Amino acid sequence: MSFPSVYLKTFGCQMNVNDSQHMLNLLAAHGYVPTPTPDKADLLLVNTCSVREKSEQKFYSLLGRLISLRKSASVLLCVGGCVAQQEGEKLLERFPYVDVIFGTGSISRLPMLVEKARKTGKVQIDTSFEDEFLSVAGSNGSIASDIKAFLTIMKGCNNFCSFCVVPYVRGREKSRPSGEILREAEHLVGSGVKEITLLGQNVNSYGQTCSGEVTFPELLRKINGIPGLHRIRFTTSHPKDLSQDLIRCFGELEKLCPHLHLPLQSGSTRILKMMNRGYTREGYRDLIQRLRAVCPHIAITTDIIVGFPGETETDFQETVDIVHEIEYDEFYSFKYSDRPNTRASKSLTKVSDKEKARRLSLLQEVQKHITLRKNRRLVGNTAEVLVEGCSKTNAKRLTGRSGSNKVINFEGLPELRGKLVQVEITEAFLHSFLGRRV
Ligand code: 5AD
Ligand code: SF4
Repeated sequence: MSFPSVYLKTFGCQMNVNDSQHMLNLLAAHGYVPTPTPDKADLLLVNTCSVREKSEQKFYSLLGRLISLRKSASVLLCVGGCVAQQEGEKLLERFPYVDVIFGTGSISRLPMLVEKARKTGKVQIDTSFEDEFLSVAGSNGSIASDIKAFLTIMKGCNNFCSFCVVPYVRGREKSRPSGEILREAEHLVGSGVKEITLLGQNVNSYGQTCSGEVTFPELLRKINGIPGLHRIRFTTSHPKDLSQDLIRCFGELEKLCPHLHLPLQSGSTRILKMMNRGYTREGYRDLIQRLRAVCPHIAITTDIIVGFPGETETDFQETVDIVHEIEYDEFYSFKYSDRPNTRASKSLTKVSDKEKARRLSLLQEVQKHITLRKNRRLVGNTAEVLVEGCSKTNAKRLTGRSGSNKVINFEGLPELRGKLVQVEITEAFLHSFLGRRV
């Protein structure tokens, strides 16, 4: 007997990557095996992202291609994630061949929806937010990697930044009980995981929406105490909720990696106000100073949007100036795009696409020089690398990441996979380093 196969394509953030793993685990319990190509798959599954217009467009062009496979065989086409949540039934107007549409809070019901679609031949739509937290420990499913794992600690968002669709497609903020988080962390470590990344739209406000729950720094301290765990990371943080207690954790907790992703979005206080971000340029700068005071070598990365409605040349220059001043290790920068339902999308002072493109490439050029300069300064230093496996481009080399999240490649035997090794950095590039084991 041959098992049915599932092709899964994931767009978007780590939250989606983690959700996709849960989808595969749930389907595996019903006999589905993953396949890397869509051509012969029995189930075509797309986990979508709608955070920016570009991510949504990429999904639509893939869907166009998948639909030809759906038409030609006894194949089912399922669309999940943020676009499915946002569009729901409306997706069928453009894509009538979709069989299952399921939202971000309906993942646990995916196998049932697939079965129903197969049996009845009718489209199944579920965009309710009924799911609780999905647990790896509770299912017999495999985890994405036996070395590193994601663990969701909260979901949803109450912040309503004026450009952002997330509160509409992921719902209101909800924290997971800390007892459940600790049990799952222990389970992961028991199955060989060395590094856990705690996930949530705004992890810093963990526990604030349920009385009697621990704070995020307290949760970190508890996870830090799990024997056998080597590294803890977390994402994403909101500057307005970054407390001094959390900053202290970077100086105190030996397992907490010295890296923080702290989205700035804009260097202009005027634009930050219009974005509804809840901090100023000076407040953000102060956070960075306090972080560097407790952990001088902390790597800091960020997200920046250029061309937010009403952004003037002066506002943009303020962003360029603060990027020069802070010297991020790396950043992710985007042209502003309108998202459904958001306040900014209704603004009448849009920046032209040409101007957004000019600002984006100027800012990226600035950051490229900063990243290269900072990376070159690391040559000669020794870093502790968690070995993830063989390099994809050179069979003799291994690849892994340092605590500060730098990709480091070096020569070594595959047996080192999953081990923490000391590597001297010998060469620096824009996105990776070359090193030698010491
Ligand atoms: N336009 C451009 N970038 C956006 N982001 C979120 N919404 C938008 C939008 N409407 C960016 C932010 C966020 C990252 C995940 O995506 O920088 O931090
Ligand atoms: Fe979106 Fe702002 Fe919530 Fe982040 S904090 S998910 S940018 S609304």
